Amino acid sequence: MISFKGKKGLVVGIANQKSIAYAVAKRLHECGAEMAFTYGPDPKERFKGNVQEVADEMGVKVVLPLDVRDDAMNQAVFAELDRQWGGLDFLVHSVAFADRGDLEKPFSSTGREGWRMALEISAYSLLPMVQQAAPLFKKNGGGSVVSMSFIGSVLAVPNYNVMGPAKAALESANRYLARELGPDNIRCNVVSAGALRTLSSSGIKSFGDMLKVAGDHSALGRTVTQDEVATATTFLLSDWASGITGQTIYVDSGFNIMAN
Ligand SMILES: NC(=O)c1ccc[n+]([C@@H]2O[C@H](COP(=O)([O-])OP(=O)(O)OC[C@H]3O[C@@H](n4cnc5c(N)ncnc54)[C@H](O)[C@@H]3O)[C@@H](O)[C@H]2O)c1
Repeated sequence: MISFKGKKGLVVGIANQKSIAYAVAKRLHECGAEMAFTYGPDPKERFKGNVQEVADEMGVKVVLPLDVRDDAMNQAVFAELDRQWGGLDFLVHSVAFADRGDLEKPFSSTGREGWRMALEISAYSLLPMVQQAAPLFKKNGGGSVVSMSFIGSVLAVPNYNVMGPAKAALESANRYLARELGPDNIRCNVVSAGALRTLSSSGIKSFGDMLKVAGDHSALGRTVTQDEVATATTFLLSDWASGITGQTIYVDSGFNIMAN
């Protein structure tokens, strides 16, 4: 078992117990990591309570609000981690958003605001987060960042629409961050997960069809699980992956290698 004893990290993106970030946190907890969580904005105000429940389950003491569009909130999160821990070892970015309307209409009719918002929340947000995390990583002699992507970054997936360019931007940004921060022993990787039923994916039109294709057309002949994505993410966050940075690693039952 990979050990995270003595390691401290921030997990961003738990909405509920179906979230990929929840599965990642669960695995990290099993490996002995100490964590802080954030909860995102929610018009229905479910996330704060959900995340607190997960924090109680895992003995996590630091739970903070974070809207990734808000620089002051972002800075406040990392200032609090510095105050609590005086350093940081890992960061999980598991955040995405697109207007539901933009996932339903023809791609070419994506509005400027929908494009801006999807790219800002799903891709740009990685930059200010890593910028704030970097000084804390340096205090611990290095760090590891993992963010989440989808094959829609490189293939035109039905109804994924504006999220495709957003994920392409995220994967590219990851490479530039890896290059910039490599000299400080800070690694940045992306996990490209196969289709999974979560709150976010429920906003994609005909997601059930996408899930069926993902299973039927993958090398393993099945979809992946949240736990499989979490285990690969935990590996990348750990010292066992010390030679890996700037990568997009597919955890999708081999869907991406299939010609049809
Ligand atoms: N579910 C899938 O099929 C799938 C496949 C590949 C990649 N992913 C990616 O995995 C990541 C996690 O998604 P998920 O499927 O677990 O869904 P999810 O809905 O559980 O998680 C998405 C998270 O994004 C957060 N978020 C949205 N806007 C935010 C904002 N402005 N500020 C802060 N947080 C905000 C939400 O609070 C939520 O916690 C996303 O990047 C998603 O694109 C999902």
